[in-house]
Amino acid sequence: MARLVMVSNRVVDFNAAQQAGGVSVAIYNTLARQSGFWFGWDGQIEDTDPSQLSPKSAAVGEHVTVTEPLTPADYNDYYLGYSNSVLWPVFHNRLDLAQFEAGYYDSYVAVNTRFARHLAPLIQPDDVIWVHDYHLLPMALELRRLGIENPIGYFLHIPVGPAQALLAIPENKEIARALGAYDLIGLQTQSDVRNLIDFLQQSVSGRLLPSGRIRVFDAELDIGCFSVGIDSHDFAFGPGEAEALAETFSSDINRIIGIDRLDYTKGLPQKFKSYGKFLEEYPEYRRRIVLSQFAPPTRESVEAYADIKAELESLAGSINGRFGELDWVPINYIHRTIPRSELRDIYRTSRVGLVTPLMDGMNLVAKEYIASQDPKNPGVLILSKFAGAAAQLSDAVLVNPYDLNDIVQGLRIALEMPLDERRARQEKLVKIVRAKDSNEWSRSYFSALVKAGQRRLGRSFKSSPEMGRALERLQVAAKKNIRESQLTANAGT
Ligand code: G6P
Repeated sequence: MARLVMVSNRVVDFNAAQQAGGVSVAIYNTLARQSGFWFGWDGQIEDTDPSQLSPKSAAVGEHVTVTEPLTPADYNDYYLGYSNSVLWPVFHNRLDLAQFEAGYYDSYVAVNTRFARHLAPLIQPDDVIWVHDYHLLPMALELRRLGIENPIGYFLHIPVGPAQALLAIPENKEIARALGAYDLIGLQTQSDVRNLIDFLQQSVSGRLLPSGRIRVFDAELDIGCFSVGIDSHDFAFGPGEAEALAETFSSDINRIIGIDRLDYTKGLPQKFKSYGKFLEEYPEYRRRIVLSQFAPPTRESVEAYADIKAELESLAGSINGRFGELDWVPINYIHRTIPRSELRDIYRTSRVGLVTPLMDGMNLVAKEYIASQDPKNPGVLILSKFAGAAAQLSDAVLVNPYDLNDIVQGLRIALEMPLDERRARQEKLVKIVRAKDSNEWSRSYFSALVKAGQRRLGRSFKSSPEMGRALERLQVAAKKNIRESQLTANAGT
């Protein structure tokens, strides 16, 4: 039976998870429509000899997960180290934060090798393997070394910084070669595609072929833009729900909502500073607005993350101290996760969505905010030009997050925007969010991957009846509405 094998660093147990990020929701939604399993780290750290580790399989609702723990050394060197202190900052063009000299690379490769060794025996001839994110760049190369010939695709959820930044990675040639082992590389935006091709050309003399494919040494691969979307039904209101919410929620204070992991790429200090500047320049808005910023903790043992936490706490404190009143606190700063089930109502009751990352792969919060709005009286999305989502959501109020004055003006425009303009923008935005949803993302990527695999193997996967049926199921599912209740029901069983 043909299956889709999803591989990502972190496998989220939706039965236990309070909050799940965009990558895991996208993987979960895809596997809800396609048979297969999800392979990766279970989030546990076990102090054992790595050679003793073995994967465990579990059924989570209709899903099958195959997971294994990391050792403390893996966690430190592979996850916090090479993945989050080298690749993450470099791909976000923050070379100043990259810790090249720490020697994390060997451990990064070792974990990829171990994962590949544990995954390879589970692969059946018709399986399609889809690897996600920067933790697992070498996965295809390792699987190929073990004789796996199936189509293997890679999707990078984070942005691709300029080639110059990637070339600064001491192991850049090894990384370029590892990328060459995939059949298809999916990226979030056209600008990411250009940057990656540029990098492959400069790092290993990759050649752009007339077919549009890239030759890296003796391999040929496809690189394409597949912008990840959300399942907008997760944020829709059923009959009577919106009215019930409106009855319980009424306030004279307009909420500006921010939801970002506490990450230095999210532009949070700039957001707080520009909000303070707005209150200073437009005093008539004092007591009339509040910035509610959720900033759940993430990767706290990495130094750069500890620094941003201290900076943000001090900024929130000083803005609240300066402008606050006995009965009004300007910034409501919440350093913890929000359950996913509460997001829709929070977005709906917020007059402005403020999403201002300095650089971001896509940013699904922007799409979730749009999907949650009341079409008759929608809020306004202020979006960084440097979030991948800006390429699709050009009817948001687009701002340069480095320019505090631009954010200040964005806030003014959003808060003063007349109803007819808000409606017109919302109509265009929601159309895109719905059309380019998570179904469309996985369907288009999956069929491109199957084609790329066929080309390499010189045989038709479609000639296998199982694969044909698998492809059909994805295409049918793409046309069907899969409702939030289904996600919840699956997660709960
Ligand atoms: C963000 C990134 C993803 C990444 C995830 C990992 O959501 O956009 O690309 O996979 O973080 O988060 P973690 O908590 O596992 O470090």
